[in-house]
Amino acid sequence: MPRTISPELRRALADRLRYYNELGIYDFYRRDLRVAEATASVDPMLQISELRDPMPKRTAAVQSVVVDSPPEVPSHREANTTDPVAALKIIREDLGDCTRCVLHKQGRKQIVFGVGNPRTELMFVGEAPGADEDIQGEPFVGRAGQLLNNMIKAMGLEREQVYIANIIKCRPPSNRTPEREECETCSPFLMRQIAAIKPKVIVALGAVAAKSLLAVNESMANLRGRWYDFRPAGARSNDPNWTSAKLAVTYHPAFLLRDPRQKKEAWKDLQMVMKELGLKAPAKDPQ
Ligand code: URA
Repeated sequence: MPRTISPELRRALADRLRYYNELGIYDFYRRDLRVAEATASVDPMLQISELRDPMPKRTAAVQSVVVDSPPEVPSHREANTTDPVAALKIIREDLGDCTRCVLHKQGRKQIVFGVGNPRTELMFVGEAPGADEDIQGEPFVGRAGQLLNNMIKAMGLEREQVYIANIIKCRPPSNRTPEREECETCSPFLMRQIAAIKPKVIVALGAVAAKSLLAVNESMANLRGRWYDFRPAGARSNDPNWTSAKLAVTYHPAFLLRDPRQKKEAWKDLQMVMKELGLKAPAKDPQ
């Protein structure tokens, strides 16, 4: 039977769809209409008001709203390509000149998307761009970046062979720690980058990156020294052979600059990664 939708509900639905489209989510599945209609007859206003909330809380009532939640595995625009270069281009386009969180009006010069080899097996994820990254538009180009380059070299690789990104893509004012809301707003794009690149291994640099990726609140001591099975939430690779990456946690290079005694601990983490990837440390320079 055809259902009539009030102009208000139509507008609310259109707003919600636009919101998901901005995140690059285009395909939706409908819930069982009988469940939704049963709820509608109880309290139709609840649907409208909840739909206006960009991030509704998962109460029982909200869960039964039609077109309320995105599907478990949303289909993004890049789902049609197997080429990671093309996929990253689409994700960058969807990001646009992002104004989704407050950071766009707090002094950021540019968005720092990510850099490196889109076909790599190894991805590093840091926290947020700093002043140098904000100016150059590339992650890890300041002092911490130089140390990261040395860490990558010590693994027998060049910076250009790996992919480097951050949890958030805009510099927080005075390099403050990113707010949870900023991480949550930005992370769908990182998840899509990971699903496009399909790395074998991800190294989370520091506690902020590790806690955000793993959605846990543990100390570095508890996080390091083991593997995690990492599936990018809400993003799907179109390679049926790739469903997850192995994720390891190590110290952030900026922390190692402050406390160089921890470098040997970080080296243990990197050796664990090298073993997984079958990498050998380069021979020492004879001089
Ligand atoms: N620190 C980070 O976490 N990321 C950068 O890009 C630079 C410094």
